Amino acid sequence: MPGQEIDVHSVIMKALATTTNDNKKVQCPMILRFPDVLEDRLNSLHAAFRAAVDNSGYKSRYQGVFPVKVNQNKAVVQDMVNFGYSKSYGLEAGSKPELLIAMSCLTKAQPGAYLICNGYKDADYIALALSARAMGLNAIIVLEMEEELDIVIEQSNKLGIEPVIGIRAKLLTKIPGHFGSTAGKDGKFGMLAEKIYEVAEKLKKMDKLYWLQLLHFHVGSMIPTTEIVYNAASEAAGIYCNLVNEHGAKKMTTLDCGGGLGIDYDGTRSGNSDMSVAYGLEQYASSIVQAVRLKCEYNGVPHPVLCTESGRAMASHHSMIILEALSAIPEPQDEDTAEQLLSKIQDLHSRQQPRTAAVNGGDADMCSHAEDLKKHGIEMYKLAKKLSKRVTGDTQPIYNYHMNLSIFSLVSDFWSIKQLFPMMPVSRLNEKPTLRGTLVDITCDSDGKIEKFIGGGETLPLHPLDPKHGGYYLAVLLSGAYQEALACKHNLFSGPSIVRVKAAKGGNGAFEIVSADLGPTSEEVISTMRYDVMKDIGSVIEERAKKNDVWAMVEPLMTNGLTTMPYLNEYKAPKTT
Ligand SMILES: Cc1ncc(COP(=O)(O)O)c(C=O)c1O
Repeated sequence: MPGQEIDVHSVIMKALATTTNDNKKVQCPMILRFPDVLEDRLNSLHAAFRAAVDNSGYKSRYQGVFPVKVNQNKAVVQDMVNFGYSKSYGLEAGSKPELLIAMSCLTKAQPGAYLICNGYKDADYIALALSARAMGLNAIIVLEMEEELDIVIEQSNKLGIEPVIGIRAKLLTKIPGHFGSTAGKDGKFGMLAEKIYEVAEKLKKMDKLYWLQLLHFHVGSMIPTTEIVYNAASEAAGIYCNLVNEHGAKKMTTLDCGGGLGIDYDGTRSGNSDMSVAYGLEQYASSIVQAVRLKCEYNGVPHPVLCTESGRAMASHHSMIILEALSAIPEPQDEDTAEQLLSKIQDLHSRQQPRTAAVNGGDADMCSHAEDLKKHGIEMYKLAKKLSKRVTGDTQPIYNYHMNLSIFSLVSDFWSIKQLFPMMPVSRLNEKPTLRGTLVDITCDSDGKIEKFIGGGETLPLHPLDPKHGGYYLAVLLSGAYQEALACKHNLFSGPSIVRVKAAKGGNGAFEIVSADLGPTSEEVISTMRYDVMKDIGSVIEERAKKNDVWAMVEPLMTNGLTTMPYLNEYKAPKTT
């Protein structure tokens, strides 16, 4: 409910005192999931489309899907289907395992909920999607490439199941920035308009044009402005109308506008970077509804059902990653004087000059020149920053907070695409944080460090550690989308504990922990590297330990090592001095 509050620190304390179903103690790091927030996001999206439809006289409806790729966890997908039941909310799959998840979860959905089958497909994928139709699910096979149609025809004949198909349009409308790099006319997915019309003609010749019922597009995640939302929907609606009017695809019912509904990670509402969008749910929904309504009315085509595959905007808010501090150590201060720093910068700068003559020397020379510029540029930038600190007298030390964390496993987008997430302490919020800290993880990797935060700062305001206050915890917010799926297991650190928290009746901050599961244990992570843990590790260690007559000591240690998470356990952080 709006205004309802839950004290995160109390949730962490309670979670750490909780045991899992198999009687293990919950360990850090952990994800706190709030399914109430998931439900609220889903309701808000539907309310936004309902208002846009009602206010504009749109003569059809909104019926969306959740793209499973955004968070494949059982509880999340099942919650989505459950919360969306009355809205015929469905699922989108982009691979065979995702399709299997969607098929099983949608057996609990309202009949007619979409099962959108996206992604590149082989005969097995298409046969599975057809079998979903035979099971009574509303599976729609969205063709990414013309060739997929031949497989659909072949498998449909083989299984005796008629498909419903959609086509993914490759639009000319593009979004700027990282997420738009695979879209546009040379994009990786879908078909250009002319190719779509060819497919329609091919279906017509076979008397199967009635198979074609949906047009899909996805211009990329984090669409920055409603202008682009509008332009993309309008361009796609134009293709939709041509399919109906020019190519006789009269069974067309649905325009699937894909994902891309963004969220405002940095709170600026500017749409100026990949961290922000300049709109909310209402403006997004109304841009799509208006664009499609106008195009269809102009062309005399009935308004289609509007679908979106909004993922990030549905799942991000409902979960936060909780990290525990292990120690806080001041970074060594720079010894150089301002003059020495300046002379180092000048030296690097002068070394750049003669290389400019080489840029005409062909591709290889250009590349090596660009590499040099990058390398020296970064060095000069670092030196310039140190110089500016010297000159402004900003000598406050920076503390490296070592956190019980693998950036690669928990916030992989920070590592891979420099995505920033809002982060803040959730301990001692009644005390002013007096130190400035960066976050260093426990992997043996220099990339395992967070030193860029929302707002452009290179440090977070943090508290000195003090064991008398207990553990010190930080939350990574808006992290419910993509992070778990993209996680990798550098150093064989892996996923976090997952704790589901629901607001309890009666309000006043009351909550209950509805489930708590440990993250993958060392045994589970090791086995993903093709070890048979008992045969290749357990028995081998046992044999050697017995030979050395130390098995009684080794056995419980090995068992504990294998059955707990790889992260540090029950670690007492020392006082910051
Ligand atoms: C085809 C498709 N649909 C939906 C989505 C979800 O996008 P978002 O999370 O930006 O809503 C994606 C993500 O890349 C996608 O590729």
